[in-house]
Order: sequence, then structure tokens, then C-alpha cells
Amino acid sequence: MELCLKGLSKRFDASPVIDDVTASVSGAQSLVMIGPSGGGKSTLLRLVAGLLIPDAGAIELNGVNVPKGEVALRPFRANLGVVFQSFNLFPHLSAVANVILPLTVVHGQSEDTARQYAEQLLDRFQLADHRDKKPFELSGGQRQRIAIARALAHQPKLLLLDEPTSALDPEMTGEVLDVISELKEEGVDFIMVTHEMGFARSVADRLWFLAQGRIVEAGGSEAIFGSPKEPATQRFLERVLKY
Ligand SMILES: Nc1ncnc2c1ncn2[C@@H]1O[C@H](COP(=O)(O)OP(=O)(O)OP(=O)(O)O)[C@@H](O)[C@H]1O
Ligand SMILES: [Mg+2]
Repeated sequence: MELCLKGLSKRFDASPVIDDVTASVSGAQSLVMIGPSGGGKSTLLRLVAGLLIPDAGAIELNGVNVPKGEVALRPFRANLGVVFQSFNLFPHLSAVANVILPLTVVHGQSEDTARQYAEQLLDRFQLADHRDKKPFELSGGQRQRIAIARALAHQPKLLLLDEPTSALDPEMTGEVLDVISELKEEGVDFIMVTHEMGFARSVADRLWFLAQGRIVEAGGSEAIFGSPKEPATQRFLERVLKY
């Protein structure tokens, strides 16, 4: 991926949540953002996804300036795959229908083509036996794997994931992390926010440590986890890696 943030700012009410951030990533397949709660990770991911519009600055993603108007944002967003916790599955639709719906409605595929592909994807994520279940009949890990299948169904160039494993127990977390590792092996680019430090370390080509609306430290994952340079990064990692 090629991602470039230039003087990016976003405030809510009076407080800056993303504070004049300039940073870039070039050639990496995965970018992982870590940092304390409230530091601005989800906000930054939403800005990149075109779900929020910055107050100042610009974002260039894979050679395209992220648009700032609703009309231009719609096709931009349609090219991405997003798995945000708040982007829940449609509760009244079965697993397979959840994957089919965006393909037909947003991407204009025929019902048959979409169904065929959706079933392939569910097979792949070991969800075939669950395809007719509604979300409430599925476990958290199964729901999250369906959300990932849905985000991948239109074969986006880039997948954005915001804490895809929070609210899951350790076994389900493992299931979802396995799926993300496989995607990485297959060459899917992604940007992910996570509190799973071991996973961040193993899967991140580039890592950003965000706190108080700024990227405090950026680098390769071994460099940051192995020998963080900034005191704030050191303190954070000491705290979260203690137990
Ligand atoms: N829609 C909003 N309106 C007002 N304030 C917001 C809004 N969204 C986020 N904030 C504030 O912006 C700050 C950054 O929030 P953000 O969700 O980006 O943090 P985060 O790093 O993702 O935290 P966490 O790890 O807890 O998910 C927080 O102080 C939050 O309260
Ligand atoms: Mg968040």
C-alpha cells in the first residue's frame, strides 16, 4: 500500500483528536496501529476509510486523494473492505445473505454470481455449515469471520480492520487472527487497529504508535517492539506487555 497523510487534523467539539499528523507508508502490505485508549486510532482509520472528513490536511491512498465530499466518497468507500466493530451484520439476514447483499446492492452483481461467490467465501472460512443462520445464532468469532468474508467479497485492494477481535474470547480471537494471517499470506493489504500485541508484532510490516492524536513513533514492528525509542512508547509497551 501507499498511504500518505499530510497535516491531517480532526477535532470533535474543541479538542483535537487527530492533531496535525504527517506520515507515510510505502510498499508495506500491513500497517498496524497500536496505542492507548482514546489516542485517536479509530478516528484515523475512519478518516482513511472516508467515513469521516478531516478538518484540515489530506490523505492520499494508493495514489488517490481521499475525497472530501459525500458524492465522491461513495465510490471511494466501495473500493475498500471494512471490518469495524460498529459495522454489524444485518440481524435479520442469514450469514450468506449478509455477504450477498452488498455484492448485489453496492456492486451491481447478479444474485446468482453473488451467491456463488459468497458460498465459496463461507467455505473458505469454514462457515459453510452456518450459512443459513442469522447472526444471533452464531458465536462472536463466527460473526466476525462473516464480517471479514463480507468485507472481502468484492475483492477490495485494501482491508481496514478496527479491533476485529475485541469482545471475543481467546479461542475465537485465535480463529479470527488465523483468518487475518492467511489473508496476509495471500497478499491482501490491510490496515488494522488492535490491542493484541503479540499479533501486532507478528503481522505488522509497519507499526504506528498513536497517542493523544499524534503518531508518536513509526517503524518496523521488530524495531518498535524490540527497542522502542520514544519514552511514551516504552511506557505503553511496558504496561501492556507486563502480564
Ligand atoms: N464522534 C465523536 N464525537 C466526539 N468525540 C469523539 C468522537 N469519536 C471519538 N471521539 C473522541 O476522540 C478521541 C479518540 O477516539 P478514538 O475512538 O479515535 O480512540 P481510539 O484510539 O480508537 O481508542 P480505543 O483504543 O479505546 O478504541 C476520544 O477522546 C474520543 O472520546
Ligand atoms: Mg478505537
